[in-house]
Amino acid sequence: PTGLLSDQLARPLHDLRISVTDRCNFRCVYCMPKAVFDSDYQYLPHTSLLSFEEITRLAQTFIAHGVEKIRLTGGEPLLRKNIERLVGMLAELKTVHGKPLDLTLTTNASLLARKAQSLKDAGLQRITVSLDALDNATFQKMNDVDFSVDDVLHGIDVAHQVGLGPVKINMVVKAGMNDQEILPMARHFRNTPYILRFIEYMDVGASNGWKMDEVIPSAEVVRRIHAEMPLEPLSANYTGETAARWRYIDNDGDGSGEIGLISSVSHAFCGDCTRARLSTEGKLYTCLFATSGHDLRALLRDGRSDAEISTVLAQLWRARGDRYSELRTNHTDGLQRSANKVEMSYIGG
Ligand code: GTP
Ligand code: 5AD
Ligand code: SF4
Ligand code: SF4
Repeated sequence: PTGLLSDQLARPLHDLRISVTDRCNFRCVYCMPKAVFDSDYQYLPHTSLLSFEEITRLAQTFIAHGVEKIRLTGGEPLLRKNIERLVGMLAELKTVHGKPLDLTLTTNASLLARKAQSLKDAGLQRITVSLDALDNATFQKMNDVDFSVDDVLHGIDVAHQVGLGPVKINMVVKAGMNDQEILPMARHFRNTPYILRFIEYMDVGASNGWKMDEVIPSAEVVRRIHAEMPLEPLSANYTGETAARWRYIDNDGDGSGEIGLISSVSHAFCGDCTRARLSTEGKLYTCLFATSGHDLRALLRDGRSDAEISTVLAQLWRARGDRYSELRTNHTDGLQRSANKVEMSYIGG
């Protein structure tokens, strides 16, 4: 162990989110809108991507500084060729306390039914699936893709059956697009082993044309569900959890009866943010809303030693003062919105 790190706001480094590809086969309006991510869009060339060996080497350095959880993201991580091999390499790493990592992945489930078993066998522990509606027409409007809700639901079931649970379901809520699906989604997942989480639509990246009036605050989501199915708050599982947890008071099934609300717009959670992000081409970002990152790939490809890379990482984390969402909450109108924030598909959701 190199001694645990703390940033300018006394936040430790606990989570690493790694984007393994900037490509996706969906075109969600809030993430990769078709108008921007069209057939002319320039994705990263293969040589720019970190190799699995490079990712694993960097992951070891992060782990030595306290990382205990690694999430693979994208883009769509299951589109990265042989992703199971990377999962297998990361699954062998141990935290500074000698425990296995919390190793997980966020997916749109288009390839999940096919890959769940091999991911489990490779050592993946659990999985989070994005699903924005139960109604096919609404789903297709949000995700701009010719894929059916039933296929996503099937992928979720297969993941659960092979032991990749508890599966979490992420629903981004965009006013006027899919907010009428809040109740159907809540009813559907209420008596299942799955944990449904509602995410406030965020002003991440520079291409989704975000407007404040398209955000449905979590308090409103809770109000709507509570009116039909009474809820009570639960305490957080761990400091820095992105989701506030609630449970159904009269849960009658054998499911967890739990939902989560991720309120990055109405209630920023920067105060406990322990997340670092590694982009597809190996840049380190200390905030989801950053405009620039630090090129760790250059260090790897320049032949720098593990000790040198470790020192750079420690310096970057100690200098970190990011708290974009809090600043945005404090001056919703005043804050100058930067046009060159990086895209979520590149930095990793
Ligand atoms: P668990 O370990 O399962 O609790 O996962 P998590 O909540 O850390 O991760 P997940 O990928 O499921 O995050 C859900 C969503 O929360 C993401 O897709 C983002 O929309 C949002 N989110 C996650 N981390 C951050 C963050 O650091 N800042 C902001 N503003 N939003 C975040
Ligand atoms: N606002 C909120 N969540 C977003 N995601 C992507 N873009 C946004 C956004 N603008 C989340 C989706 C998906 C995950 C990969 O990232 O929930 O589940
Ligand atoms: Fe793809 Fe996920 Fe972005 Fe949708 S949110 S475009 S599924 S990376
Ligand atoms: Fe962390 Fe930045 Fe998100 Fe705040 S806005 S929670 S600092 S990633």
